[in-house]
Amino acid sequence: MKISIDTSLSLVDEKVYSDKKNLKKFEEISSSLHSDQPWTAWVNYPSYKIQFLSKIKRLAKKVKLGDVLLVIGIGGSYLGALAGISALKNRGVEVVFAGTNFSYEDLKEKFDYCKNKEVYVNVISKSGTTTETMIAFEYALKFLKTKYKSNFKDHLIITTDKEKGYLREFAKINKIESLIVPDNIGGRYSVLTDVGLFPLACAGIDIKKFLQGAVDEEKTLSVANMNNPAYRYALTRFILNTKKGKSVEILSSFYPKLSKVGEWWTQLFAESEGKDKKGLFVSSLNFSTDLHSVGQFIQQGSPILFETFLNVNNIEKDDVLQNIDKSNPISYFNGKKVEEINLAARKGTIKAHSSAKVPIIQISLEKIDEENLGSLFYFFEYACAISGKMLGVDPFNQPGVEDYKRNMKKLLSE
Ligand code: PA5
Repeated sequence: MKISIDTSLSLVDEKVYSDKKNLKKFEEISSSLHSDQPWTAWVNYPSYKIQFLSKIKRLAKKVKLGDVLLVIGIGGSYLGALAGISALKNRGVEVVFAGTNFSYEDLKEKFDYCKNKEVYVNVISKSGTTTETMIAFEYALKFLKTKYKSNFKDHLIITTDKEKGYLREFAKINKIESLIVPDNIGGRYSVLTDVGLFPLACAGIDIKKFLQGAVDEEKTLSVANMNNPAYRYALTRFILNTKKGKSVEILSSFYPKLSKVGEWWTQLFAESEGKDKKGLFVSSLNFSTDLHSVGQFIQQGSPILFETFLNVNNIEKDDVLQNIDKSNPISYFNGKKVEEINLAARKGTIKAHSSAKVPIIQISLEKIDEENLGSLFYFFEYACAISGKMLGVDPFNQPGVEDYKRNMKKLLSE
């Protein structure tokens, strides 16, 4: 088991996990997730997909001969790939993300950067209607046509719905290579599909190992008992939110490589649970950096939050601090390893925050590698679905995000 959880500092009574009512509810949710309900195809997808990676590998081999892969997509269509690539070492083509906002400056900067490089574009949108994505796609088409003339099609890969939508039609009519956002899998649950796998493969990441991690977790989490880590995480959050008055969850990590995992996690939980006037406000922090800012609030501010620490048990690279001048205020670190200090900082922080009665959950990876990361993504998706269901909301829709779009369109048509 790669993902482990420790709830001993969460201020939630251990008895709740074996409580018959809670376990029964979990069993019901678990069996509904495993029984072909709408938007749950991601539950069994890794063990299916791991057998069919040849197309992704073929396309990635071509892209890796270039200088840059420009990924165009927003929300669940890019955050997983960004998180994966930031956490793991990029050994392939450089991956640049565009279409994640409406800023012209940002868009221009990205395309200017690509000007004198060999570029491939992967546009990712399940719906094919997302405004940010489609604007960036228009720019990408013009860019590719100017640069590669009639060969522009060789530099484009479209990831979209199997049958529907503008992008699918575009791929068919223009005979452009395409990948699929599978039926019944929403954007924020799609990192373990072509959506995340293709950019990861282009970045030289071993996607088979990555999926294997998810497959292992798929097996572990399908067992609905009180030791199921996703159940323990979901139930702890539920109790802290609905019974202990906490309205904010912070995902804290001492590993900068995981900062984008924090952004992916934020989108997953916020969009899945924040509806019907329910849900936790979620945000991620990078320690020790943010201990010098938000740390003050956590320690002594309004008691509205709890923390989930994302820990790593084994860090590969380390160094010993040596020959520090005796007059230097940090000379007592002489002979200490840097990661030893990082670990002491984490333990010290947990002790300080829990002494201020901040409930703490700890989720740990063995190390930061493909398998562990695949496991972690699956773990969070599964826990999020359980958590949303416990809360009584639909964790697979996002009706609230339409409002700003409606207003924006109206303003532009006036
Ligand atoms: O999780 C979701 O469903 C959303 O965040 C979508 O991924 C995001 O809105 C982009 O949608 P699309 O892939 O249709 O462009």
